[in-house]
Amino acid sequence: MAPVCFGRYAAPFAYKSLMVVLIALLLLGSGAAALANCPSGCSCNDDTLVVVCQESRLDVLPIALNPSIQRLIIRNNKIKTIDSSMQFYAELQHLDLSQNHLVNIPTKSFSYQRKLQELHLNSNKISSVSNSTFQGLNSLTVLNLKRNLLEELTNGVFATLPRLEELNLGQNRISRIEPTAFAGLSALRILYLDDNQLSSVPTTSFSLLGSLAELHVGLNAFSILPDDAFAGLNRLTVLDLNGAGLFNISENAFRGLPGLRSLNLSGNRLSVVPTSQLSGLTRLEELYIGQNDFITLESNSFHGLKNLKLLEIIGAPQLERIEKGAFEDNVNLETVTFIINKKLSVIEDSTLLGLPKLKHVSLRDNAIVSISETVFIGKELKQLDLSDNPIFCDCQLLWLQELLKDKSNFTQIQCAAPEHMKDKYLKLLTADDLGCVHHDTRQQTIICVVVVASVAMLVTLVLILYRYRKNMQEKLKDYKWNKGRKNLEYHKPISTEEDCIVRGIHPSQYPAPPAHSTGLRPIPVTEL
Ligand SMILES: *[C@@H]1O[C@H](CO)[C@@H](O)[C@H](O)[C@H]1NC(C)=O
Ligand SMILES: *[C@@H]1O[C@H](CO)[C@@H](O)[C@H](O)[C@H]1NC(C)=O
Ligand SMILES: *[C@@H]1O[C@H](CO)[C@@H](O)[C@H](O)[C@H]1NC(C)=O
Ligand SMILES: *[C@@H]1O[C@H](CO)[C@@H](O)[C@H](O)[C@H]1NC(C)=O
Repeated sequence: MAPVCFGRYAAPFAYKSLMVVLIALLLLGSGAAALANCPSGCSCNDDTLVVVCQESRLDVLPIALNPSIQRLIIRNNKIKTIDSSMQFYAELQHLDLSQNHLVNIPTKSFSYQRKLQELHLNSNKISSVSNSTFQGLNSLTVLNLKRNLLEELTNGVFATLPRLEELNLGQNRISRIEPTAFAGLSALRILYLDDNQLSSVPTTSFSLLGSLAELHVGLNAFSILPDDAFAGLNRLTVLDLNGAGLFNISENAFRGLPGLRSLNLSGNRLSVVPTSQLSGLTRLEELYIGQNDFITLESNSFHGLKNLKLLEIIGAPQLERIEKGAFEDNVNLETVTFIINKKLSVIEDSTLLGLPKLKHVSLRDNAIVSISETVFIGKELKQLDLSDNPIFCDCQLLWLQELLKDKSNFTQIQCAAPEHMKDKYLKLLTADDLGCVHHDTRQQTIICVVVVASVAMLVTLVLILYRYRKNMQEKLKDYKWNKGRKNLEYHKPISTEEDCIVRGIHPSQYPAPPAHSTGLRPIPVTEL
């Protein structure tokens, strides 16, 4: 039999019972299996109870699928509305109608889906939802309405979703949220409202979300954050305010967020780091604050953030310098990522010193010409990235050259200047290449000590010889007299060859012994 089609207009619900009777009769007559029909372009699995119709050009919901199916995926088709065929699939747990042409959802469309847990309606053209749209979805935990054309959220619109944990309303055109729009969402943990047209934080509406852990509300046009903007969200751990047009944050804007761990403030218009406003967020572990307009990170910029582990500043166009003590209070910092800050050239001495847990430092693509060893203790680091900076390779970077040799997984650094060093890898250069006049100071000290000691010994020897010269002359005469010529062979010089072998140096490396050699061991010059 041909599938029943209700056309583009949803069947009025008056016909519903009639249809149920009709289907029931058909089921009795021909059996469910014969009726179950898999539309072309779909794959229907009666064992797993999954039906997938991707890019099948369906423009209405298929009506004759196995009524026991639990997952129905009709992504990227041309479905325009949700018609009454939906009522046959009361066992559904997962329904994906994303990337279709849905314009509206008739009221009570899902009233039979009491087992549905996930509903994906993202990337459609839905322009409104009402307090009866989601009626019946008692088990729903995930509702995705991202990338639609919603403009407002009316009071009680989600009140029939007591189990909802995640709600995505990102990339819509929402400019108005009524005070009790979020009433009934007592289990909600994650809310996306980013990329909408809100001009102020809907503080009153948010205050009903006592379980909320993550709030993504960036890419709106807030301009300012007033005091207590997020009052009532006592469980919030993640707050994303990126690209929210903020240029002013009031002193107590973040009051009442005792558990906040991650805050994204990047992409705003902050002209100074909001030090005192942030200082109450004592549990904060991650702060993203790039793409703002501040020029310096002053001493103790992140005052009070004792648990901060990660600080990320990417693409701050005005940032020029990081002052000593900027991270004075942030003794738990593990990762700092300051990259693509095109004017950042000065990182003052000992800025990152005294941060015992610091492991990952990325300073890639800034304007750094040189950096002092005293900025941080390089030996504790696991990762260091200073690539893509206009590095001037001279003797001041000898410490870094040595560090790069030791730490094979540090990112390599290419010199930008002076001209004859351009593009050379710092790691491969020598102290001479870097124009260091003397070699390292330890080596110098050893050479000095040896030279001074040798001179002193020589002088002493000469003095002794001079003092006892008469004595020795007499002794020598006696000796010659007594022993005569036959004992002279004991005075044969010790072979230079043997001596060299003992010291592990091949004799050919030595000059031939002078003819009158008297057994003095040659000084192994190479050992100095
Ligand atoms: C749903 O909203 C309408 C107004 O749009 C209102 O009259 C009705 O009482 C609301 N229903 C519930 C259950 O809140
Ligand atoms: C920010 O707002 C406060 C009052 O809330 C005001 O005193 C201050 O001047 C404002 N700052 C800027 C940069 O507009
Ligand atoms: C913070 O916001 C920026 C955009 O300004 C984004 O690129 C980044 O991924 C965000 N970070 C987190 C952890 O959300
Ligand atoms: C770099 O080496 C350290 C050990 O020296 C290691 O713990 C770390 O994971 C390495 N990092 C990468 C990116 O390989």
